[in-house]
Amino acid sequence: MVIRNVSLDIVMGVTSSMPQTTLPEVAFAGKSNVGKSSLINALMNRKSLARTSSQPGKTQTINFYNINDVMHLVDLPGYGYANASEEVKAKWGRMIERYLQKSQQLKQVFLLIDIRHAPSANDKLMYDWIVHNGYRPVIIATKLDKLKRSQVAKSVKIVREGLNLEKEDILIPFSAQTKHGLEQIWETIESFCEL
Ligand code: GTP
Ligand code: MG
Repeated sequence: MVIRNVSLDIVMGVTSSMPQTTLPEVAFAGKSNVGKSSLINALMNRKSLARTSSQPGKTQTINFYNINDVMHLVDLPGYGYANASEEVKAKWGRMIERYLQKSQQLKQVFLLIDIRHAPSANDKLMYDWIVHNGYRPVIIATKLDKLKRSQVAKSVKIVREGLNLEKEDILIPFSAQTKHGLEQIWETIESFCEL
């Protein structure tokens, strides 16, 4: 995708109603701090339009980024943010749930997993939730640059096994630092959005 213009179109909070949109969209889910906003910045070729932070819990709304007026990249709040109150966690959970159930334009959900760790119970729940809503999630294994090359194959296997992926399920290792995997992710997005 040649990025000509990007902008933050819609911010959906816990009390917002579902936005009425017409452009196809893909969404990025994953635990807090896994690198969702960093991936979206890389996809948009921007340093910090999507706000990132080393502190988990940075993204607290559902943010729709308009790409070239042809599609939206949707940044979801992270789950499993230990410091959030139970009430806040429940609200975010319901917001994400509502979005997954109600979005009319959602073409695919990407689930981000830190390549260094086996998927957590929350990751598995999220995976099942996405499947339950009728999507076959594409897995993005983030922070690839943190691994030695010799560790990659084994780590990918641990992620695939942890989520019970089938052979045909797509897993793309990605680094926001080196941009490894970026092309493949864009190609996948374009094919799901039929661009
Ligand atoms: P929430 O908004 O809290 O859900 O987090 P998020 O998933 O949007 O994570 P974010 O993109 O804010 O990144 C969290 C931290 O991880 C930041 O300090 C990023 O710089 C770092 N990070 C993200 N991706 C990578 C990566 O590929 N490699 C390395 N080394 N660091 C990364
Ligand atoms: Mg974020």
